[in-house]
Amino acid sequence: MTPVLPSPTWFIGCGNMGGAIVAGWRTAGIDLSNATVIRPSGTPVEGVRTVSGYPEAGVPPRLVVLAFKPQKLDEVAPQLQPWLTSRATVVSILAGVQIATLRQRFPKAGAIVRAMPNLPVAIRRGVTALYTEDADDGLKQQLGDLFAALGWAMWAADQEKFSAVGAVAGAGPAYVARFIAALAKAGEARGLSSETAATVALETVLGTSWMAATTGESMADVARRVASPKGTTEAGLAVLDHDHVLDELIGLTIDAAARRGAELAEEAKLASEPSLH
Ligand SMILES: NC(=O)c1ccc[n+]([C@@H]2O[C@H](COP(=O)([O-])OP(=O)(O)OC[C@H]3O[C@@H](n4cnc5c(N)ncnc54)[C@H](OP(=O)(O)O)[C@@H]3O)[C@@H](O)[C@H]2O)c1
Repeated sequence: MTPVLPSPTWFIGCGNMGGAIVAGWRTAGIDLSNATVIRPSGTPVEGVRTVSGYPEAGVPPRLVVLAFKPQKLDEVAPQLQPWLTSRATVVSILAGVQIATLRQRFPKAGAIVRAMPNLPVAIRRGVTALYTEDADDGLKQQLGDLFAALGWAMWAADQEKFSAVGAVAGAGPAYVARFIAALAKAGEARGLSSETAATVALETVLGTSWMAATTGESMADVARRVASPKGTTEAGLAVLDHDHVLDELIGLTIDAAARRGAELAEEAKLASEPSLH
């Protein structure tokens, strides 16, 4: 059964990620006729009524998806707060902004939910982590179904686990994109045209992921099946595996992103504390 979006639903901001969610829900056949995008530019979003101000949005929302940059929270909260009632659920995709900070900004809202989707939600192959402290089981089921329509979705047991999924999946497509580009560069260095190298690299990653996803085999098994003992792949893997260089690099990459996430969370928290003056 196609999941149902609460009516009305407001998207506050709808750029890269909001647009990806809308595109995925549209493709999934979810009815967006009672959804409205509110964004300062009023730039139209395909398939959803778009306005540039709250008064034009109409009836107060049952679901609000916060899809602007975390730095805009201070600007948006006072404008949105008057439109919220205890019947409104706020779903925030703002990276790093904790539940406590959101609750402080939106005291009148019913439930507050954090969602951390990644860009492939646009084509319904995304990963979304969800976390709430106050949604009831019925609401969790409904939101879980809506995000599962965009790929794979899970409710995290605590905010640390939520952040852990987000750290890997949220920014993950950017890291995977760099890996595919590096594979392509290696092809170009060996004389392939840039188009051919890009296709070879992309299809290799796509095929490997698809194969593992359909067979359920581990990555260690996939590598073992490609690398015959003392063969060429094994010689290549010896470089990648040396001193766990790739694991180290990915670990450092994700640590750096997590540090930035903590900084953003701190900025949002500080901005929301009452002034001493
Ligand atoms: N990109 C990702 O892969 C990803 C992954 C997970 C989570 N996120 C989260 O998604 C959020 C949005 O990121 P993004 O990459 O989609 O950013 P983006 O493309 O820059 O889009 C930002 C949106 O916010 C709107 N906006 C700006 N000021 C606003 C205001 N005062 N009131 C209402 N809307 C306002 C913009 O509207 P106009 O265009 O009209 O100015 C635009 O639609 C961030 O909080 C980020 O942490 C992103």
